[in-house]
Amino acid sequence: MALEPITEMLQKAKKGHYAVPQFNVWNLEWIKTVLSTCEEIQTPLILGVSVNGSAYMGGYKNVVSMVKNLMESMEIAIPVAIHLDHATKVEDCFKAIDAGFTSVMIDASKEVFEINLEKTKKVVQYAHEKGASVESELGRVGGQEDFIVAESAYAIPEECAQMVKETGIDALAPALGSVHGIYHGEPKLGFKQMKEIAELTNAPLVLHGGSGIPDEELKKAIACGTCKINVNTDCLIAFGNLMRPYLIEHPNELDIRKIMNSGVPGIAKVIKDRCMVFGSIGKAKE
Ligand code: 13P
Repeated sequence: MALEPITEMLQKAKKGHYAVPQFNVWNLEWIKTVLSTCEEIQTPLILGVSVNGSAYMGGYKNVVSMVKNLMESMEIAIPVAIHLDHATKVEDCFKAIDAGFTSVMIDASKEVFEINLEKTKKVVQYAHEKGASVESELGRVGGQEDFIVAESAYAIPEECAQMVKETGIDALAPALGSVHGIYHGEPKLGFKQMKEIAELTNAPLVLHGGSGIPDEELKKAIACGTCKINVNTDCLIAFGNLMRPYLIEHPNELDIRKIMNSGVPGIAKVIKDRCMVFGSIGKAKE
């Protein structure tokens, strides 16, 4: 199956009351594992790639080629989107779309609302002309991701409604208490506001910082209109937890494939476990 934008995937998830997973990917092993595991459990999939992550993997074009070629050689038939995660610059969204990303997130949430609106409009116009989809953020997801540190700030429902109406975005990420990275204390998600924003905007909502949130809260978020959940830290932790002891137990191992693949089962386990909670298993064919 060819790569696709996130629009239809999320509309189906909205109707079916489940969430499509976004798993962030960092290298060849990561992409292979995410693709093969999601194919095995038949979930639709959004591959999240940050601006810095793309640069690390050799640029946007290389990411797209790698994913496309792997999908062909691995006979991946589930719906897959390549999504630029948290781009703060409009130009990065344009470059990723030109390289073949099927979806982008313009994250101007640190700007004042009017600038955020303006930047999002520009990206939507460009993306929609080229058949790509757009996610934007309001409020601020706290914590740290890919060198970016932010304080939490809740999204304002009226601004969310205006953002969706005036820009035509395909998905909205209203920050409502989730954080990127490891939670220090219990996450406090604003479910009341989430429901209100979903009803006001009628847009598929995105939950960032999906790692470390208790399963029941994730299910509640889905019931309140969340259709896409982003997971990164859980996979990083699981990978590192397997690779560290492997390196200690095999100090003379030279085969880079064995070293890299020592952490891979951890990623696969997180994927299966999270997709079970998100309700996305078996939804690839719908
Ligand atoms: P976590 O690292 O907390 O899972 O968040 C991922 C994310 O939101 C990517 O945009």
